[in-house]
Parts: sequence; C-alpha cells; structure tokens
Amino acid sequence: MSSTPTPAGSLLTATGLHKAYGPTPALDGASFSVHPGEVVAVMGPSGSGKSTLLHCLAGIVTPDSGTITYDGRDLAGMSDAERSALRRGEFGFVFQFGQLVPELTCVENVALPLRLNGVKRKEAERRATAWLQKLEVDGLADKRPGEMSGGQGQRVAVARSLVTNPRVLFADEPTGALDSLNGERVMELLTEAARGANAAVVLVTHEARVAAYSDREVVVRDGRSRDMEYTR
Ligand SMILES: Nc1ncnc2c1ncn2[C@@H]1O[C@H](COP(=O)(O)OP(=O)(O)O)[C@@H](O)[C@H]1O
Ligand SMILES: [Mg+2]
Repeated sequence: MSSTPTPAGSLLTATGLHKAYGPTPALDGASFSVHPGEVVAVMGPSGSGKSTLLHCLAGIVTPDSGTITYDGRDLAGMSDAERSALRRGEFGFVFQFGQLVPELTCVENVALPLRLNGVKRKEAERRATAWLQKLEVDGLADKRPGEMSGGQGQRVAVARSLVTNPRVLFADEPTGALDSLNGERVMELLTEAARGANAAVVLVTHEARVAAYSDREVVVRDGRSRDMEYTR
C-alpha cells in the first residue's frame, strides 16, 4: 500500500481520487484538503464532479482509487459501521433542499440527530432550541416544515447539521433553492455558526457570491481539482 503524505495540520485530505459511473468519469484525479475550522468552497460548473467529491470525502461514496484520510485514519480501512458512526458523530450535512422530516416540528427535526445518538428527549430538545436561537428561527420551534419559507427551512437544516457539534460540515449547494437575499442570510448564519463551533466546512457551490463566504476556494473541472489563491 502506498502511503500518502497528509498536508500538515489537515483534518480531512483526499489525494488522487478517481470515480467513474459506467463510462463517465466523475472524478479524474481530484485532490482536496481542509484544516480544522476552515471554510473551503468547492466551485465548478454543473457536472464537474463537486457532489461526487463531497460524497467521497464524507464516506458516502467509495472512490475507485485514491486515498481519503480523516483525522489520520484511512477511510478505506474502516468498516461500514465505522464510517456510518463517523457520519453520525463527527460530520454534519446540509443539502440544497433542507430534507427536514415533514411530520416533525422544527425543534423535533433539530433534536433528531441527538435522539439517534441516544440523547434523552428533554436534553436533545434543549440543545436543539439553543441552535434554533443561533440561527434566529427559535420562533418557529413548534412549526412543521410545510409551514415555513425555504430560507427558514434551510436555517433549521443548518441548526440540525450543527447540533451534534460535528468537526466537519458538508454543505452541497445549501442556498441553491433560495433567492439571493435569503441565500446570503443563510450563508452568513451558516458560516458564523460553523466558525463559532470550530467546524470545518466543505461548501459545494457553483456561485461566486456563495464562495465569497469561504476562506479558500478549490475549483473542480472535469473531475480534476485546482487550488485557487487564498481569498482572505
Ligand atoms: N449516481 C450517479 N450515477 C451516474 N452518474 C453519476 C452519478 N453521480 C454523478 N454522476 C455523473 O458524474 C458527473 C459528476 O457529477 P456530480 O458530481 O454530481 O457533479 P456536480 O455536483 O459538479 O454537478 C456527471 O457527469 C454526472 O452525471
Ligand atoms: Mg452537485
């Protein structure tokens, strides 16, 4: 087995990732790394491989070749159970459409990841309420997803993604379904909350004004990645 040097201080690193779906290469030698607490935007046109890269980094998709290291551990060397424990315990996720559970209230939605980790209901809802406050949607605690706007739903989704105090937050086009005003507010709150929690953020977007909230940008094109200069 080849050993790949990990950039000093990096929390999550991918090197030389390849992934094909039939004849279509989705990733063709992509590399990536993020430091603790760093917000990195993964930019690139539609179909360039951004979501596939995010799914590989999060241990959802297994690359055909290449190495992914999280906190010094090789993802490929873990069992499925270890990878899913990692996703439940150390990673948070926000997608384009909030994917909240429609039958549950906001506070129940945000408490859900804690409940799945065995936290008692009262304590889970107390912590969920604190996160709804940080995202400025505590007024919606007892509402169901169908009773709120897209921007409000995404704030609740951000609260849910951070309630377990993840070390990495994966966000795939988190404002893709919002108008620019709501999108900017969600990005402000997301980055502020993630920085406050010292969570690293892998932010997939094809919009420059969303990437502007990051510390650094990586551009993916035809499954290959390229580092941009530090933006801050
Ligand atoms: N599950 C899949 N099955 C087949 N092809 C896929 C799948 N996921 C992605 N692809 C293909 O891989 C390429 C990269 O897709 P994706 O990572 O979703 O790009 P992006 O997120 O940048 O739009 C595209 O050509 C896409 O059609
Ligand atoms: Mg995508």
